[in-house]
Amino acid sequence: MALCSGIGRHFRAAYRPLLFSRSIRTSGLFAMPIEVGDKLPSVDVFEGTPNNKVNIQELFSKVKKGVLFAVPGAFTPGCSKTHLPGFVSGYDKLKEKGVEVVACVSVNDPFVMAAWGESAGAEGKVRMLADTCAEFTKAIEMDLDATKFLGNVRSKRYTVVIENGMVREVMVEPDGTGLTCTLFENILDRI
Ligand code: BEZ
Repeated sequence: MALCSGIGRHFRAAYRPLLFSRSIRTSGLFAMPIEVGDKLPSVDVFEGTPNNKVNIQELFSKVKKGVLFAVPGAFTPGCSKTHLPGFVSGYDKLKEKGVEVVACVSVNDPFVMAAWGESAGAEGKVRMLADTCAEFTKAIEMDLDATKFLGNVRSKRYTVVIENGMVREVMVEPDGTGLTCTLFENILDRI
């Protein structure tokens, strides 16, 4: 045991520069917590149907400014009554600040995400992205074990501001699911 952890320490020390290089961070192959200065990892999520892939890195690298927020679950009370509606009603203010893409991601299937977006009036404002197998969520270490209350792994609630393809702000709810720093009204001044 002691030997193994000793080897691990030397291995990590030797490979630290490689593990922390930007290309490794953004490849989507290894889970790394998302940080200011990173690109989003190159992972496909789904919009509308399982056939419609959207590469999340490409989506945000095409625009000058973007906002991505993540929720623990479509149609859950806090996400439906507070988090998503805030970005839908605040969309014009984000646009005035030069934000070209606003997207919501959740570990749900794409049909559920589409139905949720429709019920919230998100069309043309907030892109509703399904991280069906939590691949994107795990790549940025935002996964939340919600097995006891939602049945499976979900996403922590967070909001990321992206500028010229690089993460400029990361806000994560301290308890993973609360409704504080990640809400529209609390990120507007940070854009
Ligand atoms: C919510 O209402 O946002 C919520 C409910 C259960 C688990 C996580 C979030």
